[in-house]
Amino acid sequence: MSGRMVGILTISTMGAAGQREDTSGEAIRELVEAEPLAATVVERAIVSDDRDAIERTLRAWADERHLDLILTTGGTGLSPTDITPEATRAVLDREAPGIAEAMRAESLRHTPFGMLSRATAGMRGATLIINLPGSPKGVRECLTAIMPALPHAVDIASAQQTGHGPAGGQG
Ligand code: MTE
Repeated sequence: MSGRMVGILTISTMGAAGQREDTSGEAIRELVEAEPLAATVVERAIVSDDRDAIERTLRAWADERHLDLILTTGGTGLSPTDITPEATRAVLDREAPGIAEAMRAESLRHTPFGMLSRATAGMRGATLIINLPGSPKGVRECLTAIMPALPHAVDIASAQQTGHGPAGGQG
């Protein structure tokens, strides 16, 4: 299989318990499969708001599956159970704050609650990882906002030949 390989990780305790349909994961799938990204979704999972489970999945998808892009949805807000940004930051080698800034800027045009998402983004090895908010509406608005830069971002990130860890040798 060629092309851009994407993983969608839905972070929802109710979703993981089978008590809520994964409409946000589905919204992501539709948007990433369409132009201009034209990606293939090769991994999809739902985990609860469990920091270890989130970190484990992100590491496996980046280090073992070598995905080009991982999009998470949910768990970015202010409630005590929202730990997606912390779990994501723990696995990132480098942050890409402009991606989250662009999403929040666009979100504020739609709702003042846009400022409540603590979403982060960055790279682990050659994998770009981006947090999206939990609602399908938030997913669509945020993903649409960054889509003009996403194909280029993914291609630049995945061109890196090294796996997890700093690029190149020590000097
Ligand atoms: N961003 C956009 N574009 N549209 C939205 O509807 N919802 C906000 C915010 N970001 C929203 C948005 C809300 S209500 C919350 S609580 C935060 O994202 C965090 O959502 P999460 O905890 O589900 O990740």
